[in-house]
Amino acid sequence: MRFRSRLLVDLARLESNFKLLKQLCPNNETIFMVKADGYGHGAVPIVRFSYNEVGIKEFGCATLGEALQLRNEIPDGEFEVYVFSDIQIYLKECAEHYLNRRILPVLSNIDDLDFFLSSSEFKHCPLVLKFNTGMNRLGLDLSQTEEVIKKIKSNGRKSIYHLMSHFSSASLNMESKRNVEQKEHFAKLKSDFLAAGLDLERTSLSNSGAIEQKAGLEETHVRPGLMMYGPSSLIKPERTNSFWKGEIISQLETYIIRVFPVDRGTPIGYGATPVSDDGFIAIIALGYGDGFSTRFGGATIPYKGFQGKIVGRVNMDMAQVFFPKEAESVLNAGDIFTIWDHDPERLLDFAEQTGTIPYELFCQLTSRVPRLYNFK
Ligand SMILES: Cc1ncc(COP(=O)(O)O)c(C=O)c1O
Repeated sequence: MRFRSRLLVDLARLESNFKLLKQLCPNNETIFMVKADGYGHGAVPIVRFSYNEVGIKEFGCATLGEALQLRNEIPDGEFEVYVFSDIQIYLKECAEHYLNRRILPVLSNIDDLDFFLSSSEFKHCPLVLKFNTGMNRLGLDLSQTEEVIKKIKSNGRKSIYHLMSHFSSASLNMESKRNVEQKEHFAKLKSDFLAAGLDLERTSLSNSGAIEQKAGLEETHVRPGLMMYGPSSLIKPERTNSFWKGEIISQLETYIIRVFPVDRGTPIGYGATPVSDDGFIAIIALGYGDGFSTRFGGATIPYKGFQGKIVGRVNMDMAQVFFPKEAESVLNAGDIFTIWDHDPERLLDFAEQTGTIPYELFCQLTSRVPRLYNFK
């Protein structure tokens, strides 16, 4: 556990982001994706706040364990929880949780659907189906539509609680061929279900990248993840297509443990990497044990009017940041050093420099970095 390296999570900004989301899609209900511990921000406080203070009533997890954590730690929460990928309904101990804890499994293959329909226990469980319209990961195959409809009808069901699919390329322009095809496939899928006399109570298609471009809003629901935490998920050349104006809800802070002068060529840290110029090294209290990856080496971070450059090998507990000689007066041991703040550009720039994505920057922070929450 760290004391002065921490992720400060500003929940008021989460509320503002939700308000901005509602401006983009005022007529859609929201399933807020909080998998991977709320994209690294702490799923329980994020959901507790979103449900109690913001009024969000539906949440998406990847695993049953994540959904159970929400149920256990927010026992009064009457929100809906979906489990999207790792559902394992065929395991007795898992099936019981879905049924007893009001957790919705998203069925995305025929075997799970068969099990679900044949089990008398799931008779009253809402049916949630995810189809593959081009993601080619999970999802019922479009070629199985007729078979799926037949199975559902012969089971006596008259409606699908939620029919969904997922874009593979929402970080690109929504008018690109692949996205247009996926939208068309989903429209056809819906009309096939309706033509067969099955009611569709809820439908959803769009994750952040699509919502940012106001796509898929003809469905009842949207499923934002990343944008609620702040960043755009569009690739840089496409960002002009984004209507998203959210702010990063978190700030990753550490502090300077030590500052010392170096001459050009001074070997630094593990691997003894020589520094490229005269200047100063600031040792910061974040390493790969905190999720501050070795891949961050070479990236620059703005600090008090200067650009610090991560040099040498990031190690488990610390990293070395090089500054030019002129920065001497602003470099003090004990001072706070911010990796990202509420400005999306800064975080997106860091992701780009380090060859990562904002999703990964958030999610890879380890439990050694405390998450601290601020409401106002
Ligand atoms: C099925 C599904 N819907 C929605 C999302 C949210 O995606 P994003 O974080 O890009 O908004 C995800 C995340 O991967 C997902 O798997």
